[in-house]
Amino acid sequence: MGRLDDKKAVVTGAAQGLGAAILERLAREGCDAVGWDLNGDALEATTRAIAARTGRRITGAAVDVTDAAGVRNTMDAAVTELGRLDICVANAGILISGDATAFDASRWRRVIDVNLVGYFLTAREAARVMLDGGGGSIIQINSKSGKTGSFHNSAYVASKFGGIGVTQSLALEFATQRVRVNAVCPGNLLDSPLWIESLFRQYARNQGISEEEVRRRYIEKVPMKRPCTYDDVTNVVVFLASDESSYMTGQAINVTGGQEMH
Ligand SMILES: NC(=O)c1ccc[n+]([C@@H]2O[C@H](COP(=O)([O-])OP(=O)(O)OC[C@H]3O[C@@H](n4cnc5c(N)ncnc54)[C@H](O)[C@@H]3O)[C@@H](O)[C@H]2O)c1
Repeated sequence: MGRLDDKKAVVTGAAQGLGAAILERLAREGCDAVGWDLNGDALEATTRAIAARTGRRITGAAVDVTDAAGVRNTMDAAVTELGRLDICVANAGILISGDATAFDASRWRRVIDVNLVGYFLTAREAARVMLDGGGGSIIQINSKSGKTGSFHNSAYVASKFGGIGVTQSLALEFATQRVRVNAVCPGNLLDSPLWIESLFRQYARNQGISEEEVRRRYIEKVPMKRPCTYDDVTNVVVFLASDESSYMTGQAINVTGGQEMH
């Protein structure tokens, strides 16, 4: 028995990293799910592996969350495949850091487009089908950077602060209609591909220090003195997806080892 037996879910940005971990955890808790990602090939391999490991019906759909028509059609296709939608985890996101005075405007806008507009498009289409069904839970993967400014991260922080505004506003809009909207704000997942393949290098270059020193400094900032893990985040996602959180909407929950308290 899982905690989400026979629930139907969509997870965006599910080809790798946190999104793949969320997709697998939902499957282990008893969900059938469709994972979405820009990267169709990686998504296919991830969903096939998760389906084989969990025995659940887990498939993938290639879509760019910034494409309004694509998101609408892909949501309709997911509901046709799953029968209904109970849970939508809007996880797809990108991070481009940089010195504000040299930040290329089109790259700055791309971060807003994926993290903020993409979240809005995903959430509103999920809400549309949930309002027609029996209600549901929409969960945004936000960040501690949705609560406090971050060095050389003006685009990412703007997108994540904005995401909390979307979460609160949609929560108000659907509060009486059994559609709940909440966000999870993780700390630094230092063992995720985002850090290993990109952020350690970006931050080392921007701050003029080694990648090892970046890791040491980011752990030192955490009161619990360890990085955030996938389990830390998926535990809260399962809670928000389940009826255990049925009196919660419009919340943005920190999962940061004490680093963020507001
Ligand atoms: N890694 C961290 O330390 C960390 C910390 C806090 C919050 N987060 C948030 O967690 C989420 C996932 O991060 P991650 O570390 O797993 O990143 P990641 O880069 O490993 O994975 C993100 C996935 O999203 C997909 N994606 C990117 N743009 C897309 C688009 N336009 N449409 C559809 N899919 C798209 C990518 O192809 C990729 O598979 C993001 O929202 C991120 O902001 C990450």
